[in-house]
Amino acid sequence: MTVAMRGDGAPATIGGDALLVTAFTGELGPAAIEVDGRLDGELTAMLSSRELTGSFGEVTVVNSAGGIAARRVVVLGLGDRNLLDSFRLHNAYTLAGGVLRRRRLTRLVLAADVSLAETAVPDTAALLRAMVTGALVANHEAGVNKSEPDTAPLIDEVVVAGVDGDAGDSVDIALAEAVLLAESTMRVQRWANAPANTLTPTQLGADVVELCAGTTLTVEVMDRAALESAGAGALLGIARGSDEPPVMIVVRHQGAGTDAPTLALVGKGITFDTGGISIKPALGMESMKFDMGGGAAVLSALHAIAALQVPCNVLGIVPATENMPGGRALKPGDVVSAIDGTTIEVVNTDAEGRVVLADGLALARQLRATHIVDVATLTGAALIALGHVNAALMSSDRALTQLVLRAAQQGGDRFAELPMSPEYDVCLRSEVADVRNWGGREAGAINGAVFVRAFSGGLPWVHLDIAGTAWNDQASLKDIPKGPSGAPVRTLVWLARLFARD
Ligand code: BES
Ligand code: MN
Ligand code: ZN
Repeated sequence: MTVAMRGDGAPATIGGDALLVTAFTGELGPAAIEVDGRLDGELTAMLSSRELTGSFGEVTVVNSAGGIAARRVVVLGLGDRNLLDSFRLHNAYTLAGGVLRRRRLTRLVLAADVSLAETAVPDTAALLRAMVTGALVANHEAGVNKSEPDTAPLIDEVVVAGVDGDAGDSVDIALAEAVLLAESTMRVQRWANAPANTLTPTQLGADVVELCAGTTLTVEVMDRAALESAGAGALLGIARGSDEPPVMIVVRHQGAGTDAPTLALVGKGITFDTGGISIKPALGMESMKFDMGGGAAVLSALHAIAALQVPCNVLGIVPATENMPGGRALKPGDVVSAIDGTTIEVVNTDAEGRVVLADGLALARQLRATHIVDVATLTGAALIALGHVNAALMSSDRALTQLVLRAAQQGGDRFAELPMSPEYDVCLRSEVADVRNWGGREAGAINGAVFVRAFSGGLPWVHLDIAGTAWNDQASLKDIPKGPSGAPVRTLVWLARLFARD
């Protein structure tokens, strides 16, 4: 069990394994300057000799001296001060946390540089959350299925130093939230990392039931029979190629009156994507175990939203299935019908995410959602366009987009908006059904969004294509921690908070 606490007094007076101070390119941060005095100018000397540069993600471990209570001083490079944002802060602390775990330094004292609040992040609470959540997320363990467990110990204590004593309760609240958000992030990472033979749609449903037991959330896991009576032909269609039964997971947070607005979060829950009959190449196909990353973020966000007692109504909906090429699988040209009766010509069975989301959005409207945000590892095109650095955002509503972007500054996620000019709408045109699920290779991420929007019923809607940001597998991209990111779970939690205030 990890704790995050406030340490009163100067950072140097607080005991622990490592006192983390920061540097920017070529300059020490305020706590580093203070510590430097106790170290007889050692950090300044290291800066002059370029042993320490302050570049982003640089972690320099120095023996402590001069009455510094922690055993080591660690200087974390944050790079260019003007380029720092919540995303980069989270990532810097995660990178540092990983280095310190491997060095067995697990009781951390984090010195806050409060001058970063309001420049890099919206406020002091956001700064503290970025530092603490970032560091704790380094506890994510990829090798859970190894016979010999990883030998790096977990970070088990985080003390934040250097925040004004007057800040009072708000600091303690921020720290408690930081721990919750780290746990929420690591849950998404665990789910995304889980092999598809253990994390089946049924197992994901069971995990959610267990997670939500004893909370204020209500959970319904719709099985095949329930999906049939609901008319969820789109989800059932994609599931035809698999022996694993599909489910639709519906989680409800009732934080306001029944006539208050309801935010629906709809997440793609493909527990494995082979492409179906439009089968994918073998090379790298194993990465498609993470194709439920959007659904995982939605489900974990709902859990946190309930824990935080956010005063609004939120509905989490995750259509979950494998996409397999079995003997009864959908064939290109097959037509299925979604919950709202819209018929879909499936010309490419590998564009399965949008098809299951069709039923997810249709169900959200049936359950009286007033606003819809969907989250999906939807298109390779989003990955090609934006890499692992930004998720693609497409939308039908300015106000809801602004809310998501504000939430992202709190949560430490990144989104870049792509346009939805009316000319793109032709990708939907089918000769035989209401819509088709594939309209050409060009503008692939936008085409996916155009299809999903067709099921939003004209409600304010935002689409987050996280195909690139859910997982960083680019070894050379050192500024972003490798593996599953858990994104954008924290943004979804903050979105609910901002939605409640609006
Ligand atoms: N799950 C994939 C998208 C994906 C690809 C995510 C690579 C992460 C990395 C999705 O179901 C898919 O296969 N999309 C197709 C769509 C195409 C057939 C229109 C794609 O991107 O190639
Ligand atoms: Mn696919
Ligand atoms: Zn997919």
